[in-house]
Amino acid sequence: MGKNGGKVRTLGILTSGGDCPGLNAAIRGVAKAAIGTYGIEMIGILDGFAGLVENRVLPIDDRVMSGLLTLGGTILGTSRNKPHKMPGPGGTTRDMTGAAVETYRRLNLDCLVCIGGGGTAKNALHLMQSGLNVITLPKTIDNDVAETDVTFGFDSATAIATEAIDRLHSTASSHKRLMLVDVMGHNAGWLALAASLAGGADVCLIPEIPYRLDSVVDALRRRAESGRRFSLVSIAEGARPVNGTGSSQRTRGSPRADEPIANSSVIAPLLEEALGLDTRVTTLGHIQRGGIPTATDRILATQLGTTAARLIHDGVFGVMVAVKGKEIVPVPLEKVAGRRKTVPLDHPLIESARLIGLCLGD
Ligand code: F6P
Repeated sequence: MGKNGGKVRTLGILTSGGDCPGLNAAIRGVAKAAIGTYGIEMIGILDGFAGLVENRVLPIDDRVMSGLLTLGGTILGTSRNKPHKMPGPGGTTRDMTGAAVETYRRLNLDCLVCIGGGGTAKNALHLMQSGLNVITLPKTIDNDVAETDVTFGFDSATAIATEAIDRLHSTASSHKRLMLVDVMGHNAGWLALAASLAGGADVCLIPEIPYRLDSVVDALRRRAESGRRFSLVSIAEGARPVNGTGSSQRTRGSPRADEPIANSSVIAPLLEEALGLDTRVTTLGHIQRGGIPTATDRILATQLGTTAARLIHDGVFGVMVAVKGKEIVPVPLEKVAGRRKTVPLDHPLIESARLIGLCLGD
């Protein structure tokens, strides 16, 4: 964590990794405070770290900022590129850190704001170690960034997944069906668990708790025997059976040959046969990442953005702006990079899930 008060004249900003609701609200939050309050000039870098390596920019002014608060996606574009591993010819990768540093110098940047998840923090740390002043903001629908209670994007995705579960409920109940829904989240179960609690799912499978199919069948059978003739099962991306390895839905790449697949289309026929219930599957996919942010995400993204601008003005670099309880605080990037926050088994959400009888598959 460095300190270099009041010397920042120009800052760059980029969005990296998968998009999510609230990115534009965060850009706006940084910009309103940095430009309007602190008189710092701001330059947007296009398409994540790719734009930094390739010197592609969008200067940010009042005209660009207009209408950003509610807009989904990111006006800057995003990519999953890493400066030190840019794609080269024939599937090779090249270390383009030098080009990224050169763009930073050419633009006369005093600081680079990187909005992203854990991978982005890792890339930002790498750039910091190459001499750049960096600061990151935590975003992702997965809520899996270490050292922050929450990321923006998560609340919006939870609302979307919950609405989907609500809608599946009414059709499940009308047809007396078993409905399975695949929820994103990479290797963390935050999104599936939150949406399952909010939507009243009957079973929720998450990566943190390897599941047994017979436990799921037992829970659904008990439900049927008590007279409820429909059920809803949510399956987190990354959920896996006991003794299984790897991620189940694998949205980022195809499954390895030795990997047990555990998404709804694989589980559905097994449950249908075991329970004799007409079964349907729904994969929410990128619908969970699209569209306008919730009010909660707009506020969080704005607060993280304005705090980042204040920290930059104060000359605090090498940190992620994090939520800790009721506070928004800087956390050294070294503590964030390369770490992932999964759902602790003693988390209050897990406790509540168990107390209301939500089957977690174990
Ligand atoms: O990190 C957000 C996320 O949506 C994950 O939940 C999911 O694993 C991944 O991104 C999907 O990535 P892509 O859009 O590159 O397929």
